[in-house]
Amino acid sequence: MKPKVLVYMRVDERVIETLKKDFEVTCFQNHEYLGDPAFDSALKEADGIIGLALKVTKELLDAAPNLKIVCNVSVGYDNLDLDEISKRNILATNTPEVLNDTTADAIFGLLIATARRIPELDHVVKSGGWNISLQPDQYGVDVHHKTLGIIGMGSIGSAIAKRAHFGFDMNILYHNRSRNKKAEQAYQATYCELNELLERSDFVCLMVPATKETANLMGREQFQRMKKTAIFINGSRGKNVDEQALYEALKTGNIHAAGIDVFKEEPTPKDNPLLKLKNIVTLPHIGSSTTECEYNMSKLAAENLKDGLNGKMPPSLLN
Ligand code: GLV
Ligand code: GLV
Repeated sequence: MKPKVLVYMRVDERVIETLKKDFEVTCFQNHEYLGDPAFDSALKEADGIIGLALKVTKELLDAAPNLKIVCNVSVGYDNLDLDEISKRNILATNTPEVLNDTTADAIFGLLIATARRIPELDHVVKSGGWNISLQPDQYGVDVHHKTLGIIGMGSIGSAIAKRAHFGFDMNILYHNRSRNKKAEQAYQATYCELNELLERSDFVCLMVPATKETANLMGREQFQRMKKTAIFINGSRGKNVDEQALYEALKTGNIHAAGIDVFKEEPTPKDNPLLKLKNIVTLPHIGSSTTECEYNMSKLAAENLKDGLNGKMPPSLLN
């Protein structure tokens, strides 16, 4: 009998076809969860789970007695209760590295879009306006030769630093749990304490994974330390930012603007006050979501799944 696999959200169709050769596959693409009878019954039988952002809690694990492996189609794994998963000798995997350049393109693009007010100016043209009708404060600010502070110099942070250093002659500061000598040498990045980074940077780009330690890492005090002319970019997780503090910082002019790919609650509610502000540019958590990268992440997740269920060491094991 083929092992049973529960496919959850945004696994590439071509990859699902290859999975069907080895596994009995049941797909859930609409945020189904515990309590949905079809989901519960697939979960009860599942040997493996592959997908995006499924909340794997103690309760979910209790309802999945045969589970041997959980394969995220993302580098972040804050959706997984890794302690509970490990306690039950279940494997967990993510998709690092394959998304580095794609995500860095998106987050650096968001930085430029925020600084140069690209969405707002697009709206000006489409509503019949032109540059002569702009107020001086609508012109935007320079990116090149400015100071970029990267909080979280992992592989994605480094790919952002590469773009900033070679493409935009930016001066790079970074804060990280450990020193990243490679980024220091390759991109002339300077390590500094968080407070110093916040005080000196023209752009502050948050790229840390979401952990207990990073919850609300950016709060009122941190935004107050930033320059009034500075721009804040969040390419990590919404949980890492106190959204109310960000709102106040933007509203009162404590910081100049923000570019946000991620929110505390996703999808973010339509009445989130942040969405009413002019000096914020938003994206719907699409850092790694290009046609090519979604496929590459799905493929890597499927490799992890196959290896795990065949008793081999998956290439990106987390536990
Ligand atoms: C995207 O947010 C990821 O974690 O891959
Ligand atoms: C964050 O996810 C990083 O790799 O920097």
